[in-house]
Amino acid sequence: MFPLHRGRRLRQNESIRSLVRETSLSPADFMFPMFVVEGENQAIEIPSMPGIFRRSIDLTVKEVQELFDLGIRAVNIYVKVSDDLKDNTGKEAWNSDGLMQRAIRAIKKEVPEMIVMPDVALDPYSMYGHDGIIKNGAIENDSTVDALVKMAVSHAEAGADFVAPSDMMDGRILRMREGLDAAGFINVGIMSYSAKYASAFYGPFRDALDSAPKEEENTVTEPVEVPKDKKTYQMDYANRIEAIKEALWDVEEGADMVMVKPGTAYLDIVREVKDNVNIPVAVYHVSGEYAMIKAAAEKGWLDHDKIMMEQLMCIKRAGASLISTYFAKEAAFLLNQK
Ligand code: PBG
Repeated sequence: MFPLHRGRRLRQNESIRSLVRETSLSPADFMFPMFVVEGENQAIEIPSMPGIFRRSIDLTVKEVQELFDLGIRAVNIYVKVSDDLKDNTGKEAWNSDGLMQRAIRAIKKEVPEMIVMPDVALDPYSMYGHDGIIKNGAIENDSTVDALVKMAVSHAEAGADFVAPSDMMDGRILRMREGLDAAGFINVGIMSYSAKYASAFYGPFRDALDSAPKEEENTVTEPVEVPKDKKTYQMDYANRIEAIKEALWDVEEGADMVMVKPGTAYLDIVREVKDNVNIPVAVYHVSGEYAMIKAAAEKGWLDHDKIMMEQLMCIKRAGASLISTYFAKEAAFLLNQK
């Protein structure tokens, strides 16, 4: 008998394909990253991220309602604060009346069912664009962790459902869990960016927040030696086993979810982390991945919607329980039309 196997029987038409499809996507798989700025009625498009805006709190809340109506159930919040609020300690990060804290309160007031996950890292507040405090030319781990705990607790006080540390300092999950519990926030979860690589795919995001590590500018005001990149805390993209180690440590320290970042170029890591932990694995489909698709589509070189859905499905297939993506709204819209 030839051929012995006819795999094509299961691919004959869309009905049979839909019956045997192994992975599915729904709007509830997505988290939407949002950039918040001061002011009122502000929506400023980010040049390297077409379709993505920095919004003032009022318009952010409106957008969150629209996202909720599309079936999206979580937002990741980032803020762009003015330069005069930035220093080396990042102390604006735990100002109870800071931009982030006000944004969280406003969203939770108007759309209480939306899961709000603020980013916990000092870079938007650092005059040097680093995720930690600089001392003697290096990022100081333990004092940074102390600062991050204050930041996380202030987010919880403002009403955050989850905090999402993206800084990659050692020991921050344990300290954050202890800090949240001590302050009474036993139900505030931690989504740890466990395997966050030092990646050039974050370029457009740093444009959005103006948070690229900046050496020269600040040596003028304060002569400090500033590391030129984030490689002493974010991971080396040549490494695989290290990602599993980091994820397991975070599970041990009390993380409720772990995240792998970036997404599509790191799907081997997603699968391995998924196979090694027993908590949900999130994936961040980052700014550079978004920008590449937008740019190629603008040139007419790729089919935007098809590539978008393929990438998101492949991230899910690799083992993601949830995906943080700038495509969340567009993809949810398409999924809802079906
Ligand atoms: C910083 C942070 C970054 C991103 C999320 N949180 C940038 C960085 O580490 O420099 C990148 C997200 C993206 O590129 O979409 N704590």
